[in-house]
Order: sequence, then C-alpha cells, then structure tokens
Amino acid sequence: MTEIKRIATGVHGLDEKIEGGFEVGSVISVLGGPGSGKSLLGMSFLHEGLKNGETCLLVSFEENVDDLILDMEAIGFNDIRNFVSNKKLIVSFNSPINFEYLGVLDVINENKVSRVVIDSLSAISMYMEDRGKFRKFMLDLVTELKKFKVTAIVTDEQPQVSDNDTLYFSGEYLSDAVIELFYTGLGGDFDRSMQIIKMRRTNNDRSMLPMRIDKGGIYVK
Ligand SMILES: Nc1ncnc2c1ncn2[C@@H]1O[C@H](COP(=O)(O)OP(=O)(O)OP(=O)(O)O)[C@@H](O)[C@H]1O
Ligand SMILES: [Mg+2]
Repeated sequence: MTEIKRIATGVHGLDEKIEGGFEVGSVISVLGGPGSGKSLLGMSFLHEGLKNGETCLLVSFEENVDDLILDMEAIGFNDIRNFVSNKKLIVSFNSPINFEYLGVLDVINENKVSRVVIDSLSAISMYMEDRGKFRKFMLDLVTELKKFKVTAIVTDEQPQVSDNDTLYFSGEYLSDAVIELFYTGLGGDFDRSMQIIKMRRTNNDRSMLPMRIDKGGIYVK
C-alpha cells in the first residue's frame, strides 16, 4: 500500500483532525465570504513551510506585496520580511486580467517550490468571459500543479447561486480537499468556524469547528 505523506497545515489544531495534515501534492480549495480568513489560512500554511526551510510561493491578485507582508506581521509572523529577502517566500502580485499561469509553473520549477497559495480564483474568474473558459482554466491549472507535486491552496469566494439555482462551478470538484470558512460576526464560540467539506484519502473531522484568528495565526478546536 502506498503510504500517504502529509505536511503540517500551519493552522493550530487542524492537523489532528485530518490524520496529520494535508496530503503532499494535493490541491486544497479554501472557500468563504469576505473577511472569513481565506488569505490568512493560506499565509499560515506558507509560514509553516518557511519555518521548515521550504521554499513557498504566494500568487496574489488582490493585495500587493507590502500589504501582504503587513497582514502576516499583524498575526505575529514577524520573521516574514526575512523570508522574502532570502527568496524563501516568493510573492507574485498579478493583474487578474488575462492571467496566464505558465509563469507560475516556471517559478515553481526553477525554485523548487513545495507550497503554493493562489489567492484568489474569484479575482480571475471575474475577468473570464464565460464559465466554460474558467472551467478549462481550472482543470489545466490543477492538472499542472499536480504534475509538480506541490501542495497548493486555492482560495475562492463562496460558490454563488445563479438565477436558475444551479451552483456556479468554482473548481472545488477538481480539488482534493475543500475547506469552508464561516464568519457570522455575532461573537461567541461560533463567531468564526471551519468545516472540512471533503478531503480525499482522509478520515477527516466532519463537524463545524469553532475557529479564531489571533496573534500566532488561526486556531480551531
Ligand atoms: N491580529 C489579528 N487578530 C484578530 N483578528 C485578525 C487579526 N488580523 C486579521 N484578523 C481578522 O482576519 C480578517 C481578515 O482575514 P482574511 O484577509 O484572511 O479574510 P479573507 O477571507 O481573505 O477576506 P477577503 O474576502 O476580503 O479576501 C480580518 O477581517 C480580521 O477580522
Ligand atoms: Mg483575502
């Protein structure tokens, strides 16, 4: 039997709920509304890799490099600037218009990147003329990322319901894992929560996990 290799997620309390961590080489969709913690989850995942000496890539469409560094420092990743200047953390800020991922694959290949975050797909899909084109884009992207055996997080806004009530395709069927983040803004234990919707090859926790964001990162229990 092939043993599944796993890596720490960087989210406090999550690894023990998913048999030890994300499967190496898997593609994980992180879905959620505005401010639900998608970007911070991606950054925590990269920071975990950086602490272990891995080279990591953050592909951003929404925030520029300076803002991303400030975001990471705000949750206590104070060493992030050093990782950027040592080129252990490669940050690529792109326009979502006519985005081509081939450049991303080159960066992965040339720098032996092991962890990738693409934040966010909704930025890209907004500028694609139709869903068919976006679907093809996602299929190609996931296929290519898997060839390189990188572990990748792609963030996306919550799936949206169209006029005829069918869910817009947003790539989560192609991913190995889907994690959904919720933010009610009501305070209390479930002010923020996380649910693992699917995780292939993993006996994952299925319940709604109370979550908090604090200095030190993201915590689930
Ligand atoms: N140091 C901190 N302590 C507590 N909460 C924090 C801290 N830093 C950020 N947050 C919370 O995290 C939220 C931002 O999370 P994040 O940017 O990951 O969300 P997002 O899902 O990516 O949102 P968007 O859809 O806007 O991209 C902030 O709105 C804030 O509530
Ligand atoms: Mg974000």
